[in-house]
Amino acid sequence: MSSPTAPMSPNPEPDAVSGPDAVSGPDSAPGPDPELPPESEPGASPAAFLLDRGLARPGEPARWTPLAGGVSSDLWRVDLPGRSLCVKRALSRLRVAADWRAPVSRNAYEWAWMRFAARHRPDSVPELLAHDAEAGLFAMAFLPPERYPVWKTQLFHGRVEVTTAAAVGELLGTLHAASAKDADLAAEFATDDNFHALRVEPYLLATATAHPELSDLLHGLARRTATTHLALVHGDVSPKNILVGPDAPVLLDAECAWYGDPAFDLAFCVNHLLLKSLVLPAFREDLLRSAQVLAEQYLRCVDWEPRQALDARVASLLPALLLARVDGKSPAEYLTDDRHRQFVRGAATALLRSPLPTTADLLTTWTKALDGSTDTA
Ligand SMILES: Nc1ncnc2c1ncn2[C@@H]1O[C@H](COP(=O)(O)OP(=O)(O)O)[C@@H](O)[C@H]1O
Ligand SMILES: [Mg+2]
Repeated sequence: MSSPTAPMSPNPEPDAVSGPDAVSGPDSAPGPDPELPPESEPGASPAAFLLDRGLARPGEPARWTPLAGGVSSDLWRVDLPGRSLCVKRALSRLRVAADWRAPVSRNAYEWAWMRFAARHRPDSVPELLAHDAEAGLFAMAFLPPERYPVWKTQLFHGRVEVTTAAAVGELLGTLHAASAKDADLAAEFATDDNFHALRVEPYLLATATAHPELSDLLHGLARRTATTHLALVHGDVSPKNILVGPDAPVLLDAECAWYGDPAFDLAFCVNHLLLKSLVLPAFREDLLRSAQVLAEQYLRCVDWEPRQALDARVASLLPALLLARVDGKSPAEYLTDDRHRQFVRGAATALLRSPLPTTADLLTTWTKALDGSTDTA
């Protein structure tokens, strides 16, 4: 969906830009606008923000295009004369059936995570342009999909480049290593409550409720994860949040950033590749090789704790995350075939009951299970 070009106005709501909004400048009040549609956030006008920060000039034509139908944020591509940028704004009320409110401060943590990553790997985050902590929004460079395709899209089209997986593993390991043993970062990202609400509860605890027979194991993993504070975790390292840039992978969407257990990020990302290896049998070999290489490259970077210790936490957490994508609160949208869901339940349950010591062992077991099953061909 895209909106027609409209003069730069403090009300860029997708429904409103099509109207003949008056041109306004930085001096015009950016406060609540009586014409804002009901779902908009009072006092957080993205257009006024761009004017205020000098990212757009009064009267310039601007085309605002919503980028994603996310439940927790508004995200726009903004095309201005000769340049494009991206504005992301956290919603105080999530777009879900239930009245679920989450603090917009997570937008500030996302911005802070991006700033951290930009210090260490500037090519692996979009250029950061401006931030308004109070309004819960920020602006960054827009990275065009022709040059920066989404990794998930590539994978589903069978474009499975093992070098991309290797670069993602190395990037993640480098960022974790750069943040480990950093007391300032630990204090800045003491977001345990957010991480509990966005990750531990919907993934691990909700799955425990769905599987009372595994409840103790899952609660144990939840406890261990929540009480491990070793590095700055991104929290949503999924192929849909990674753009495959010409020089390096670009990581987006760090709303779950938390100083916690780095094993979570690796397990979370490898989990996505394992589930795709199940539903995309034609590309299975490359997807499994990608998972293996990603983990290997990551593990080479682990210098803040014994590698074996981290590897063992990944290998024990991964089956819980596999099961969570079937029976937790955030099921994978592509696991539509009941035979696939049953396969995941069976494999994950066995691995939870008898955890393996390494991610490599887990990959071997998963591969054998796929090969031995007639339901997964
Ligand atoms: N700076 C950017 N440049 C280009 N595309 C982007 C940018 N930021 C986000 N996107 C696109 O929008 C999608 C959603 O962005 P994301 O930050 O992940 O928001 P959400 O929290 O809604 O998932 C991404 O998967 C990507 O395709
Ligand atoms: Mg996202």
